[in-house]
Amino acid sequence: MTQSHESIVQQQFGPQAAAYVTSAVHAQGPDLDRIAAIAAEVSPAHALDLGAGGGHVSYALAPHAQAVTASDLSADMIAAIRAHAAGQGLANISGEVAPAEALPFADGAFDLLACRFTAHHWRAFEAGLREARRVLAPGAPAIFVDVVAPEQAQADVHLQAVELLRDPSHVRDYRASEWIAALGRAGFTVQAMRTHRLRMDFAVWTERMRTPEAHVAAIRSLQSMVAADVARHFALEEDGSFTLDVALFEAV
Ligand SMILES: C[S@@+](CC[C@H](N)C(=O)[O-])C[C@H]1O[C@@H](n2cnc3c(N)ncnc32)[C@H](O)[C@@H]1O
Repeated sequence: MTQSHESIVQQQFGPQAAAYVTSAVHAQGPDLDRIAAIAAEVSPAHALDLGAGGGHVSYALAPHAQAVTASDLSADMIAAIRAHAAGQGLANISGEVAPAEALPFADGAFDLLACRFTAHHWRAFEAGLREARRVLAPGAPAIFVDVVAPEQAQADVHLQAVELLRDPSHVRDYRASEWIAALGRAGFTVQAMRTHRLRMDFAVWTERMRTPEAHVAAIRSLQSMVAADVARHFALEEDGSFTLDVALFEAV
């Protein structure tokens, strides 16, 4: 049986909406601190959190913006954000169910955009970046954060393989060089890039996506045969936990 990529994304994320709101990996990080700092400098009238998931970017933007729109392909995620925002008294956050590749917003509608840990799921990465560019006012800041693949091909393929086995909605963790080139083609100027590393606890990482047992076993099998330099790159541990590279791109 075949289905659209969008329905695979919705099936993967919908039932896990509450887990993303409480996920420690998503609720903190130097990238989230940087997004909040930029928002504090800019004081946007209307900020967009693109691919909002559990809403952590929206919660970081809300104290600094007049209004924040959280948009996501998953209606369950948007419902979870609305419930959490209401519980926290964050009245300036609203939600919109929409694919990044076809946003229901006017040209130049936002004066800040942040997009974190979502682009690697998009069916059409570059179309999503063009939409981000379209809905931003000219000269307004955009911050993109995602897991990035190593530039070395062997380590890149290992990462994509374990990601896809873990989550069938995975498309690609782009390399930093691919991000910079794609942002340029979409009309953005990248002004800065910051990187940090993020440890994935194997059990938490697979449970959050409800990875089937057969796929967990396949990931462990791949990890047991991995080349030494790839294992070193990802700081692969005995139990399958490993460490990823995350990049934050500041663009206008
Ligand atoms: C890992 S979660 C996002 C985490 C969140 N941005 C954060 O910083 O905590 C990935 C989200 O991307 C959403 N997503 C995947 N593909 C999408 C698309 N094409 N358009 C919009 N949202 C998408 C999923 O529904 C999911 O909620």
